[in-house]
Amino acid sequence: MKEIKLQAKNGDELLAYLLVRSGIEFERPCGGIFHCGKCRIKVRGDFDEISAEEGALLSAEDIAAGIRLACFAHACGEVSVYLPED
Ligand code: FES
Repeated sequence: MKEIKLQAKNGDELLAYLLVRSGIEFERPCGGIFHCGKCRIKVRGDFDEISAEEGALLSAEDIAAGIRLACFAHACGEVSVYLPED
């Protein structure tokens, strides 16, 4: 996986918006209505806590592996996202 470093706008930016603003494509099957749980992306860095709603769509293994959902997670500063090489 390749690591891409990003900076949240104004210290609090929805990960989905940060990805779009950075020109990074990602899966968003339900269109961002917090339903499908498929906007998964491996991240690291300064993020908010996982909410109960987001946690319900992730497994304990996902959370341990740093997976967040782009529709839910808020970047709060400098973060990294990990994308497949291709
Ligand atoms: S795209 Fe469906 S929950 Fe994010």
